Amino acid sequence: MKFVKEQKRTNYCGELTNKNAGQTVTLMGWVDSRRDHGSLVFIDLRDREGIVQVVLDPNKSETATAKDFRGEYVVAVEGVVKPRPEGMINSKIKTGGIEIEALRCEILNIATTLPFRPEDENVNEVLRLKYRYLDLRSARLQHHMITRHKVAQLVRQFLSENGFLEVETPILFKSTPEGARDYLVPSRVNPGHFYALPQSPQILKQLLMVSGYDRYFQIARCFRDEDLRADRQPEFSQIDMEMSFIDVEDIIDLNERMLRRIWKEIKGIDVPPLQRMKYFEAMDRYGSDKPDTRFGMEIQDLSQSLVNSGFKVFDDVLSRGGIVRGLAVPGGASFTRGQFDKLTDLAKKNRAKGLVWLKPDADGTIQSPISKFFTQEKLKEIFIALGCSDKDCGLIVSDDYDSTCAALSALRLQLGRDLKLIDTSKYNFLWVVDFPLLEYSPDDKRWVSRHHPFTSPSDEFFDDMIANNEKAYPKILAKAYDLVCNGYEMAGGSIRIYRNEIQQAIFRLLGMGEEETKAKFGFFLEALKYGTPPHGGIAWGMDRLVMLLTHTEAIREVIAFPKTAQASCLMSDCPSEVSRDQLNEVGVKLSASAEKFLTDRAEKR
Ligand code: AMO
Repeated sequence: MKFVKEQKRTNYCGELTNKNAGQTVTLMGWVDSRRDHGSLVFIDLRDREGIVQVVLDPNKSETATAKDFRGEYVVAVEGVVKPRPEGMINSKIKTGGIEIEALRCEILNIATTLPFRPEDENVNEVLRLKYRYLDLRSARLQHHMITRHKVAQLVRQFLSENGFLEVETPILFKSTPEGARDYLVPSRVNPGHFYALPQSPQILKQLLMVSGYDRYFQIARCFRDEDLRADRQPEFSQIDMEMSFIDVEDIIDLNERMLRRIWKEIKGIDVPPLQRMKYFEAMDRYGSDKPDTRFGMEIQDLSQSLVNSGFKVFDDVLSRGGIVRGLAVPGGASFTRGQFDKLTDLAKKNRAKGLVWLKPDADGTIQSPISKFFTQEKLKEIFIALGCSDKDCGLIVSDDYDSTCAALSALRLQLGRDLKLIDTSKYNFLWVVDFPLLEYSPDDKRWVSRHHPFTSPSDEFFDDMIANNEKAYPKILAKAYDLVCNGYEMAGGSIRIYRNEIQQAIFRLLGMGEEETKAKFGFFLEALKYGTPPHGGIAWGMDRLVMLLTHTEAIREVIAFPKTAQASCLMSDCPSEVSRDQLNEVGVKLSASAEKFLTDRAEKR
């Protein structure tokens, strides 16, 4: 290890250009590729910043070990930066104008053959995740990690400039509800007692406002045991903030400025002032509270024109207070039965009971599975009401409001992608505002919070809440706002309840008895009594933000060591079993079903 002991690295491989010509440099990195021409060995030497070409003469004693260089060996090279001969310049890479003529070299460590080449795009994800540390060598993941780092730095700088203090809150805490299941941690010293990992620092950041810290932020790790999707991980990071003595407009203004700073610095893009859309407008037009507004295919309401249509399905739904809505699919007139069947399956997976389609044949007659229930004239009227032209098809869903919206939104997004209607270079940001505060859960037969129970209702609904006026519940709006981009909820927050009696009223309304409220939130309710300023905040999904900046569709791509959809880490094989002694120590006994799971798995292995 002469090199590491005696000589320090002088430069990163990827930063060298013609400006360094003539300099003697010492580089250390990985052999990305090697071409042996007998009298000369060419290697591409790689480090975090990129690749540079090194030319070595294996016939000279100081560079003789070049003969032994193999892919992914870790080597050190001392050499002179030379401009490449005319015709050998590679304009595709930053270092393409130069090469290093080696004076001395050394192998710092060998590498056995890798299970895959990090740059190979055809490697399946299971293998990549098992060897995550090798995948992290790829330019792709390095770019994502570097972007993530830049975002973290920018955010810290921006928020510090705006008077925010970075405060760390505990990971071992009490349940903080955000609508998911908790990850629990047993306590050894308090047998039978558990910590819950925070689903967010919500309560803690509000307490910091009670403490008078005025403006708080944290890049906070959050834990949620919920069904995973392409944009969800069981542990993820939030850019979390809270401010005192402010209202909705202050938070929106500050966050828009932060958004602009990030997009300008990282993408070189000037973000124009953001549009706002009310929750119900978003649902009516796009079927979603996080609409992808980069393309049209907006939803049309047919309910009025189909009252007493004589078609039982529509009539029944409408008489129960449901809706009939649909959308036009550009070019859909050429869809086959098979394609409509697939779309029907998609609608059913997204809460609809079925899907009605309409399409014109060559002479303009409208074909549809419901054609026998309607005249051609009526079918054409529906077709036009959906906004279809003669090359399109129409899709209709009839159900309760939420199910119809969910199904049409899923169809719209899938078709938008399949038909390439989305300009993927665009960023469409918007604020979604005026959310309902509550929703009725038919499963639990009670009202639940749409965001979390600390969200303030709009002022005009305070009396309804305190008076337990259940009739008003569906109409109560929240002082909540979501920042949406290209169909992702990038951030969400609200103005909080800061008066003890309103917070208590909310817990009551959510079906929590006095005992339960005291056990879960007693400390918080008490804090609200000791001089709590009006306050509010927001949290950005840091991972989703980086996904948007790097144009990636899987959250795993922007997290250094992510989990799979089964919430496991393929690299370290966790979660894993622990010894009976350890379980005893923390006072935990496995249930019969967990024991059975372990035996079944052991037999399979
Ligand atoms: P919310 O639950 O909306 O609000 O979360 C804020 C943002 O966090 C991101 N997010 C996730 N990202 C990855 N994986 C997940 N499982 C996941 N869940 C949420 C989203 C979301 O917009 N305490 C409130 C914030 C507040 O009111 O200030 C909260 O956590 O981008």
